[in-house]
Amino acid sequence: MMIRIVSACALASVLFFTSGSPSLRAQTAPAQVAKERVDLMKGLWRGYYRDMSEAAKGVGDPKAVAVKATEAAAQMKKFGTLFPPGSGREAVPDTRAKPETWTQRADFNGAIDKLVTETVAFGEAAKAGNADAMKAAWPKVAEACGACHGGPPKSGGKFRFEE
Ligand code: HEC
Repeated sequence: MMIRIVSACALASVLFFTSGSPSLRAQTAPAQVAKERVDLMKGLWRGYYRDMSEAAKGVGDPKAVAVKATEAAAQMKKFGTLFPPGSGREAVPDTRAKPETWTQRADFNGAIDKLVTETVAFGEAAKAGNADAMKAAWPKVAEACGACHGGPPKSGGKFRFEE
């Protein structure tokens, strides 16, 4: 009983504080989450996928790259949580996430799942030290990025506005 009362109070205060300052919430929270997803995306190539692309050409340590692939898959899963409703251009004018990110959410989530699957497959090839399998897996990884947007930084795509 005590626990219930305490958690009810905690919930009430959360509701109070989050609804307390709508203007602040509208300006800061969506901008913050949009920055977080852009930072995550920017970090993908230099943090994980660059080494994977090199490994596909036979450069580097496959075991280390297998770890990178696991981390990259986790990053992509997190990416999917960074699109709360109301964090598109209506609140964050410089976001490049298209409205389709919200209106075609199942497709968007499917594109994330696809990249996760291909990344994990690449990681398994790397873990096994199988150079041929890594070489074969890499284009599927790159293609999975392309489901949402093109490769060049300014390019657009199904879920990203051209810069
Ligand atoms: C599920 C869709 C999806 C997939 C898959 C995806 N991206 Fe993105 N990416 C986005 C969206 C949406 C944005 C724009 C985010 C924003 O501006 O809020 C973006 C933005 C970017 C940016 C630009 C960041 C900036 O400076 O604005 C880079 C770089 C990037 N992605 C790299 C990648 C790479 C590399 C891959 C594959 C390993 C990848 N993305 C896969 C959806 C995706």
